[in-house]
Amino acid sequence: MDIISIIGPNQLKGSVKISGAKNAVLPLMTACIIHPGNYKINNVPMLKDTLTMCKLLEMVGAKVKIINDSVLIDTKNCNSPLAPYELVKTMRASFYVLGPFMARFGEAQVSLPGGCAWGPRPVDFHIKALEKMGAQINLDGGYINAKGKLKGADITFAKSSVGATGNVLMAAINAKGTTRIFNSAKEPEIDCLIEFLNLMGGNIIRDKNQDIIIKGVLDLKDNIEIDVIPDRIEAGTFMIAAAITKGNITLTNVNPNHLEIVIDKLRACGCVIEISNNTLNIKMFKKPISNDMVTDIYPGFPTDLQAQWMALMCLAKGVSKVIDNIYIDRFTHVAELIRLGAKIKLEKNIAKVSGVDYLSAAEVMSTDIRASASLVLSGLIAKGNTKISRVYHIDRGYERIEEKFKKLNADINRLK
Ligand code: EPZ
Repeated sequence: MDIISIIGPNQLKGSVKISGAKNAVLPLMTACIIHPGNYKINNVPMLKDTLTMCKLLEMVGAKVKIINDSVLIDTKNCNSPLAPYELVKTMRASFYVLGPFMARFGEAQVSLPGGCAWGPRPVDFHIKALEKMGAQINLDGGYINAKGKLKGADITFAKSSVGATGNVLMAAINAKGTTRIFNSAKEPEIDCLIEFLNLMGGNIIRDKNQDIIIKGVLDLKDNIEIDVIPDRIEAGTFMIAAAITKGNITLTNVNPNHLEIVIDKLRACGCVIEISNNTLNIKMFKKPISNDMVTDIYPGFPTDLQAQWMALMCLAKGVSKVIDNIYIDRFTHVAELIRLGAKIKLEKNIAKVSGVDYLSAAEVMSTDIRASASLVLSGLIAKGNTKISRVYHIDRGYERIEEKFKKLNADINRLK
């Protein structure tokens, strides 16, 4: 049935361990294809997307074993550079096999990912970059067919792109010559990938302008392992949950350096936040102060916390603007928040939110990972029993979310 039922309002209290980052582990897993061998990735979040990526690796010929929160990947027998539509359409990050296929096999057949809940998700940056590196690429029947021995090139992205930066990094690791990526993504998940590729024997640095220089190498190695960085988006989601419920929670296994702007903005709303090493405590004693937010590339405010932030602003004192400049149509959560009593006016990519005194429970529907999270946060504070359907979306990006919230004093259950 995929329904999460929440009875609110409730104040969160207690401690929660943040899982490894979904958006770091997915490219780490595909990077194992580049060079045949054995790899171990630790602190892996057991999410639907992680399991989907395990399936994709097995379809490519890898052997994958999950032991506790580690994934052991053996890519010695990978032999099929194909990522089929029926899998890629369920998880856009499958597209991260493109770079590794080109590095390992010199060819790739990868389904175009298509759109997602909130609109088109183009991959033109990925294609243009690989063509610049010498790949011959044609589109046929919804598939990208790429072929060629890659050579280093200067790549400048018109917009910073996490996925395209990741694919070029993995494609360029053993290309002949030097590849330089200008206007590259600066997200911590990309730096985690760079660390892993250098452990494999890659020669990759970020220069003083934050541009990425990759010197192609021939000898790569396996038998390496890496710990996935903490999930800054999951951490931000729980921080906003504490703020919206006027709670007091402690997050462990976080990297506060990846959350600077989120910490600053929550403090501006009235939250009291204390940090020590990889632990963060957040308390909220009053109604949040409204605070405009504009999403941006890292280290700006993450688009993946836009919906959760909006939920908080629905209960803030005053009017605020929530603007998404990364995905101008990422607002499928607005109609659902309005069902809970929120006052939101949406014009293009600008949502004007007028804070209300309280939200009232209702039946609502998840549309994507982060929209679902904003509905859970709203359900925690809404008066009555909120039921959220289609929560398979939320399982793609959050590990056992109802168990983690239950441990924080929420009255939340998954209805089978
Ligand atoms: C990654 O997606 C994340 N996914 C997304 O998280 C996140 O929202 C996004 O980065 C932005 O931070 C993973 O890491 C698996 P982009 P990605 O390429 O790589 C445009 C979640 O909820 N663009 O950085 O696909 C694009 O339309 C997910 O965990 C092109 O125009 O995003 C967007 O406006 C959702 N052409 C901007 O660039 C391209 O070829 C940034 O996209 C590629 C991107």
